[in-house]
This record gives sequence, C-alpha cells and structure tokens, in this order.
Amino acid sequence: MKVVAFNGSARKDGNTAILIRRVFAELEAEGIETELVQLAGQPIRGCTACGQCYKNKNQRCVIENDIVNDCIEKMRAADGIILGSPTYFADLTPEMKALIDRAGFVARANDDMFKRKVGAAVVAVRRAGSVHTFDSINHFFLIGQMIIPGSIYWNMGIGRAKGEVEQDEEGLQTMKTLGQNIAWLLKKINA
Ligand SMILES: Cc1cc2nc3c(=O)[nH]c(=O)nc-3n(C[C@H](O)[C@H](O)[C@H](O)COP(=O)(O)O)c2cc1C
Repeated sequence: MKVVAFNGSARKDGNTAILIRRVFAELEAEGIETELVQLAGQPIRGCTACGQCYKNKNQRCVIENDIVNDCIEKMRAADGIILGSPTYFADLTPEMKALIDRAGFVARANDDMFKRKVGAAVVAVRRAGSVHTFDSINHFFLIGQMIIPGSIYWNMGIGRAKGEVEQDEEGLQTMKTLGQNIAWLLKKINA
C-alpha cells in the first residue's frame, strides 16, 4: 500500500512538510510506502475551465507543461492521498488550490477516479485561519467519494518560522494519531 502527500507550501521542507513527515512515520511503521511531492517553486496554473477533460476522459488535464498530470497519476496509483498546505490569508496556498481544481475536475470527468481512496488534510498555521484551510482541502476529498479518517483534533500544527511546529506537542500528537488512523483504515479497506 502507498500514501502520496503533496505539500502546497511555497517553502520547501517547512512546517507543513514536518507535519506530513510525522504522519508518514506512523504509516511507514505499519509497512505502508510513502512519497512526498513538494510544490514549492513549481509553476502550477489554475483550471482554465476548457472542459476538455470531460471530452477526452483520459485521466489527464490538457495543460501538459507543468507537474499536475504527474500529480494526478501519483494520486491514481496511491491508496491514500494527503494534501498539506500552510494557512495563507486563512486559506490554502494558490499552488494547492490549482492542484485541487485541476485534479478534482479531471477526477470528476473520469467517474470519480479517486473514489474510496483515503484522504487527509494537513495544515500549518501561525495563529488563525487553519480550520478554514482544513475545510477547503476536505471539500476535494468529500466531493470525490473519498474516505476521511479523523484524529484527536483537526489536523493542524502551530508555528511560524521553519521548524517551529516541532514545539507544538498537540499538533505533533494529532499527526501521529492521524497516521495511525490512516494505516488502520487502509488495512481494513484492503483486507
Ligand atoms: C502569504 C502568507 C500568508 C499567511 N497567512 C496566514 C494566516 O492567515 N494565518 C496564520 O496564522 N498564518 C499565516 N501565515 C503564516 C504561515 O501559515 C505559517 O508560517 C506556516 O507555518 C508556514 O508553513 P510552511 O513552513 O510549511 O510554509 C501566512 C504566511 C504567508 C507567507
């Protein structure tokens, strides 16, 4: 089994990545393969609303000059998908929004191609707005017929500078429990 995570932060290996790796530690302890894709520095444009994905139905976006089709293929091949984003103005980053819009539209055009995979949001935040970010990501999973496990709190960690999230004990515990719950659920689904 495999879980792929996408870090939508403009900052590679920052707080969002740290939180995702806490989830990964639990998955790997259960023998589940993991892969982290960091979107930082990637020029990802938004959906152009061309509707070609509904005509082509080939599990791809017609925009071929960025990494979104690679991301869609990684999502298709995985059993679980984690979407991580820092909170930017009380919402997700533009890179993550673009990935969600394009992967989400392609999935809908192709019979909800991620349905019944496990999905989880991971959010980093300095102070406020993270629940909104968390909700924004969960819309992607829910409309795509995916299955979302919970944790001991909404999946967020608090910190501003790179690495500060390591001091948020409750946030780290939330990621640990989330990882355990993803692993439990994946094993039930694939039993
Ligand atoms: C453009 C921008 C907007 C931000 N907006 C918010 C915000 O609305 N609320 C908040 O608490 N923190 C906000 N932050 C702080 C980040 O969410 C915080 O530093 C987070 O830990 C960054 O995660 P990263 O290291 O994965 O990039 C913002 C940061 C940036 C760069």
